[in-house]
Amino acid sequence: MCGIVGYLGNKEAFPILIKGLHRLEYRGYDSAGVALLNASGELNVYKTKGKVKNLEDYCKGKDISGTVGIAHTRWATHGEPNDVNAHPHYSQSENLALIHNGIIENYATLKELLIREGYTFKSETDTEVFVQVIEYVKKKFNLDLYGAVNRALTYVIGAYAIGIIEKNNPNILIAARKGSPLIVGIGKDEFFLGSDASPIVEFTKNVIYIGDEEVVKIERGQQVVINNLKDEIITPEVSQLELDLSEIEKGGFPHFMLKEIFEQPKSLGMCMNGRVSFDELEIKLRGITDNIDRFRKARRILITACGTSWHAGLIGKYLFEEFCHIPVSIEVASEFRYRKPVIYSDDILIPISQSGETADTLAAMDLARQNGAFIYGICNVVGSSIARGTDSGTYTHAGPEIGVASTKAFTTQVTVLIMMALAIGKELGTINHEKYHEIVKELINIPSKIKLILDKAPEIENISKVFTYAKNFLYLGRGYNYPVALEGALKLKEISYIHAEGYPAAEMKHGPIALIDEEMPIVVVAPKLDLYDKIVSNVQEVKARKGRIIAIVTEGDIEVSKVADYCIEVPDTEECLTPILTSIPLQLLSYYVATVKGKNVDQPRNLAKSVTVE
Ligand code: M6R
Repeated sequence: MCGIVGYLGNKEAFPILIKGLHRLEYRGYDSAGVALLNASGELNVYKTKGKVKNLEDYCKGKDISGTVGIAHTRWATHGEPNDVNAHPHYSQSENLALIHNGIIENYATLKELLIREGYTFKSETDTEVFVQVIEYVKKKFNLDLYGAVNRALTYVIGAYAIGIIEKNNPNILIAARKGSPLIVGIGKDEFFLGSDASPIVEFTKNVIYIGDEEVVKIERGQQVVINNLKDEIITPEVSQLELDLSEIEKGGFPHFMLKEIFEQPKSLGMCMNGRVSFDELEIKLRGITDNIDRFRKARRILITACGTSWHAGLIGKYLFEEFCHIPVSIEVASEFRYRKPVIYSDDILIPISQSGETADTLAAMDLARQNGAFIYGICNVVGSSIARGTDSGTYTHAGPEIGVASTKAFTTQVTVLIMMALAIGKELGTINHEKYHEIVKELINIPSKIKLILDKAPEIENISKVFTYAKNFLYLGRGYNYPVALEGALKLKEISYIHAEGYPAAEMKHGPIALIDEEMPIVVVAPKLDLYDKIVSNVQEVKARKGRIIAIVTEGDIEVSKVADYCIEVPDTEECLTPILTSIPLQLLSYYVATVKGKNVDQPRNLAKSVTVE
């Protein structure tokens, strides 16, 4: 939800900021803007509707000089995406320019107060109110920019990561965060600001992850100064980025989404690295070993997440109940956080998140913490808010996921859940030894089995061409593959804009069967498992109503293949591991349907990668 980037140093800021915006564009892409302080002390703001490319075109022929600047790529919250509502926003005097990621909840009240003080507004945004508040307190209390930002932050309620610069003050860049991510990069005589490390990594690996409710003063030739909203000085902690530039580039693929789908054998390998012992056929998860007593005494496991991560969590429920015999309840974070749920101090909450910044998941986590639950996170982005807010956890190590549609994040989340369930089950004695070793052995083979499915990409592309006419799709699955059906449907709808619903296959006859006719494509996830015979019956029911069936089946399948119009085979594996394999053809199917329809799969309309607002 909005990407922010900033630069203060001895180089020209514009190219660095534009490159940074391109890297952050996955966070929002409805408008973009830049503010630059030139050598004469002028503060120039350029902004325009549309993508970063439009901004670049718009800036041609303009004064883009300056060694300090801030820039923004937007996902609209307050006010439609247009030139005026785009960031940066000037203050009334045009002495200040601000970029903001987040939402100021009390902006309407503040706006009224400022209007009474004679302030006028050009945009409909909460961000313009924010910058005016800073200017107002700056004048009223005769403060410098740092003091004014600190003071203004006591007036605003909401979430923010901001960067602000001031006319005639080329040596200072102030930033602050509450709820939205913010990183400062420290180079040689230069500083960078970013919503994440992607705009920074090319220039320096030394970064400071800014904590919640912290304000940063970046001053030319000085050390970074940080204080919190209680006015306490915070000692900056410099971390080393482990990110590699190639990880955030397309590497020859036409889209990040396709690159990330094809990266899955590697990302699963990284996820298992050091955790799955190939020789001993053992799982070693430090977070579990260190906290095994918590799991032993757990009354319940609560899982909370959003979107794709929630689908992974649903698979977690099957896993923990089967292998650990711990009752699991799972809920989408936006419901959980407002439902007044009963949470016990001997509950374990598992928040799952790729970005580690999802506002609802963070809030659900806070609620569980207030009630004394132990928080064990599953997260991809190292140093993210969710990762930092947990008691313990396991990183997925999928590497940066830039395509808005989650792919490798999902399969690595499921892999972490499998490793956790096996590790806990073994410690608790709730999983049979032989079964444990069989699953571990099979887990090790999963990356090479994914490769075999990826080889079928051309076949899947051909199937997808048949179905681009469709207005609706139904996805059906049972057991471990019911969440896969939900995930397949989400993938298709978010990037191709075709309506798709996922359903437990047997539930179909309680309503959705009414939709089936000769036009309707039905994707059935039907690997050969315990419930195979039952799903064969479900497939027959669909066929009897003339539905067009695309089935995901196990190699050598006979029954479903007789009935389905198209079959995509996946290698045989342990039941609990099938979601990792069956989800791959569904990712490819949605990717090809969307690209054949000419959609922008990496940046689908209305979406953003990291949902930092509720
Ligand atoms: O970063 P998170 O995993 O917390 O994000 C949760 C959802 O916003 C995310 O999975 C979303 O549903 C994706 N666009 C799905 O592809």
